[in-house]
Amino acid sequence: MEMDVQLDLNRIPRHVAIIMDGNGRWAKQRGLDRSQGHQAGAETVHQIAEEAARLGIDFLTLYTFSTENWNRPEQEVTALMGLLFEHIEEETFMKNNISFQVIGEIDKLPEFVKGKLMACVEHTSQNTGMSLVLALSYSSKWELTEATRQIAAEVKSGKMELSAIDSDTIQQHLATKHMPDVDLLIRTGGEQRLSNYLLWQCAYAELYFCETFWPDFKELELRKAIADYQHRERRYGLTSEQIIDLVI
Ligand code: IPE
Ligand code: IPE
Ligand code: MG
Repeated sequence: MEMDVQLDLNRIPRHVAIIMDGNGRWAKQRGLDRSQGHQAGAETVHQIAEEAARLGIDFLTLYTFSTENWNRPEQEVTALMGLLFEHIEEETFMKNNISFQVIGEIDKLPEFVKGKLMACVEHTSQNTGMSLVLALSYSSKWELTEATRQIAAEVKSGKMELSAIDSDTIQQHLATKHMPDVDLLIRTGGEQRLSNYLLWQCAYAELYFCETFWPDFKELELRKAIADYQHRERRYGLTSEQIIDLVI
């Protein structure tokens, strides 16, 4: 049996973001249809969300469907929307005190999916445990473009001074305005790229790439990623000596 990993429960990352990649290749390896890979991936989402909540992660943001994913074959997009509808399980969120949220261009989703999503967001909004955030029809460039448009409108209408714009202003106009920046970004499936995900929020994130396809990324894999994160020194531009002084 594979050894478990030891984690320092006082140093759990507050915000973990995951690019859940590799469903298609997982299916192909098994001679299955891509949609069966997505089905298996959806099961993993439940397991990882519950484990993240148990570990005390405050925010888990999952890249579920990107702006660019709309360009996939229609049949695959339809299958993904169906799976999304099936897997929004309010009971699981209530049981784990999880507050369910979404970021992205939600209006683009089919009505039946949107309706269930919004109801679940509303019904779990009083939960005080982990925030589970699905990025749906999301991309960073979309988000930053929207933020820019809103800020420009506020300046134009006289609500804001041009000279008052700073990095907080931008942060306050992002879909993630209520969340801290990403501490740990995980990408499964072997690719080493960000694919338009949380670019602003990942400015100082620790990056963790693994080969495991998303359907096989289970609780132990998450703990391994966090253990790896806990061995890193986050310097934020300072020297190692300065960081040690700060801790002492
Ligand atoms: C990630 O798996 C899920 C979505 C992007 C919706 P992929 O479907 O991208 O799987 P691969 O990368 O083709 O293996
Ligand atoms: C990123 O995966 C999007 C999600 C996981 C939802 P992709 O499979 O779409 O990314 P690329 O195309 O390999 O960059
Ligand atoms: Mg992929």
